[in-house]
Amino acid sequence: MVELKIEDLHIFYDDFHAVRGINLTVNDGEILTLLGPSGCGKTTILRSIAGFITPRKGRILLGEKDITHVPARLRDSGMIFQNYALWPHMTIEENVTYGLKMRKVPKEERHRKAMAILSQVQLEGQADKTPGQLSGGQQQRVALARALVIEPTILLCDEPLSNLDFQLRVELRTEIRHLTKKLGVTTVYVTHDQSEALAISDTIAVINAGLIEQVGTPLEVFNDPDTLFVANFVGENNQIEGQVTKLEKGLVEVKTEGGDTLTYTNLQDPFMEDTAEEGDRKSAPKLAVGDKVSIVTRYDKIFLDEKATENVLTGTIRNLAYMGTMVQVVLNLNDGSKFTVNVSENLNKVMGMGLGSTVKIHLPESACFLFKDNLRVR
Ligand SMILES: Nc1ncnc2c1ncn2[C@@H]1O[C@H](COP(=O)(O)OP(=O)(O)O)[C@@H](O)[C@H]1O
Ligand SMILES: [Mg+2]
Repeated sequence: MVELKIEDLHIFYDDFHAVRGINLTVNDGEILTLLGPSGCGKTTILRSIAGFITPRKGRILLGEKDITHVPARLRDSGMIFQNYALWPHMTIEENVTYGLKMRKVPKEERHRKAMAILSQVQLEGQADKTPGQLSGGQQQRVALARALVIEPTILLCDEPLSNLDFQLRVELRTEIRHLTKKLGVTTVYVTHDQSEALAISDTIAVINAGLIEQVGTPLEVFNDPDTLFVANFVGENNQIEGQVTKLEKGLVEVKTEGGDTLTYTNLQDPFMEDTAEEGDRKSAPKLAVGDKVSIVTRYDKIFLDEKATENVLTGTIRNLAYMGTMVQVVLNLNDGSKFTVNVSENLNKVMGMGLGSTVKIHLPESACFLFKDNLRVR
């Protein structure tokens, strides 16, 4: 098992610059997820690691070895896909042992290895069936077994759970993580689903239009987003637009488009000069009075609070949705924009509030992320 390193990767489809300079390190035995919307370049990056696409520029290193121009069949990567890609006319065992046969592993050993890995993915007793006789979840387990049985240097997973229903997705992602950790295989995992990425990864690289927005642990990416894009992609948020009206040492005052005033005292230094880029982390912008800023708040970090006096917005209730452990309250702010609060206490009382009634929404300072353009103001 080894570390995978990607240096300044650029990939083109004819004139189209799909991957625009990616730097990434996947540590030995780590699960790194490429997370981003459809079309951002995740599959393209993965296929270049597998050797199916040659980059125009940049290098891919496995351990000390530069594999940028090594043919796919010599890279020893295992791959699983959204559509399983099993051979329908072969038995499960034949599917799983195909790669071993190509590698001229003797029949006895192939059989032994297939049985062992099928038991690891909980498919004992299914070896003689064909893929059509198995459920979607079972077929993906076969695909996982087929990828792992060759003891790949690296495992590449391209949205492997997207065709499965919610419960199976949760079950299988737990198993994929468990198994890859147990085997210690370095894994690059691709998904557009933020909760899947948070649950399965050691590290997440958030990708937007062929570039990395942020690399970090699931906790870092969720709780400390570097960019507006990351904040919005990994959480359920409200975004309010405003303008800086006052700037003093230790204080930033913002007037929202709805006419409310929000103040921030915990920003380290809003006057800070643009800092040099460190890896892919973006530099922090400085603020000036008159700057337009965006404020992002998670639905479940803000409160309906009639007693609140500071950092308060006024809203009119448009809809109340009871969701078991919480009530989702959808409001309109003064400027007509939509705003959502997930309330998790006093649900009976909240459900009793009338549509059209006016309430105060408290936005604690700690619940707000501030951005100037796409960059976080810290
Ligand atoms: N074979 C191809 N030829 C031309 N453009 C492509 C090809 N494959 C992908 N693209 C384009 O490259 C971009 C990235 O695609 P892809 O890597 O498949 O994104 P993702 O996997 O994140 O959805 C998209 O704009 C897509 O339309
Ligand atoms: Mg894709």
